[in-house]
Amino acid sequence: MRIGMACDHGGFNLKEDLKDFLTSTGADVVDLGSFNETSVDYPDFGAELARKVSTGTLEKGILICGTGIGMSVVANKFPGVRAALANELYSARCSREHNDANVLVLGGRVVGTSLAREIVKVWLETPFSGGRHQGRLDKIRTIEKENFKSQEARQSSSGGSRTESPRNVK
Ligand code: RB5
Repeated sequence: MRIGMACDHGGFNLKEDLKDFLTSTGADVVDLGSFNETSVDYPDFGAELARKVSTGTLEKGILICGTGIGMSVVANKFPGVRAALANELYSARCSREHNDANVLVLGGRVVGTSLAREIVKVWLETPFSGGRHQGRLDKIRTIEKENFKSQEARQSSSGGSRTESPRNVK
């Protein structure tokens, strides 16, 4: 399995631990940084990973900042990204079963490494339940399309362009 990871300084140590853990299970980890504890801006790293999930370059990703909040806010700005902040097991499981989350977000200053490993394991092993939950995701997609439609209109009227277009949408 190929999985992207990105963090800021608040998530660096946990990212390193989880990268070792995932690699030891045979996962192919794509590390998008940051690469040390120097203070950086989480939107830069969160956006790089979320863009790859949004465009289908990566199927799943893990983001880590101090609380997980900033990374969640950033990632959910990207079409088709369903980023779930889950610092405990119940939310991690439900984020897959109910929300088909494709990005797991953790707070490096909130969870310890043992619990974080369990959360990652559960998150990766839990399938989406579909059924009534699919209908709810379809509604989210409709809302998203409406909002991005107005954004695209603004961008084209101001001459803006993008190099990658969103594909990871249902
Ligand atoms: C960095 O100090 C901190 O603000 C960041 O890691 C994150 O918690 C933001 O939501």
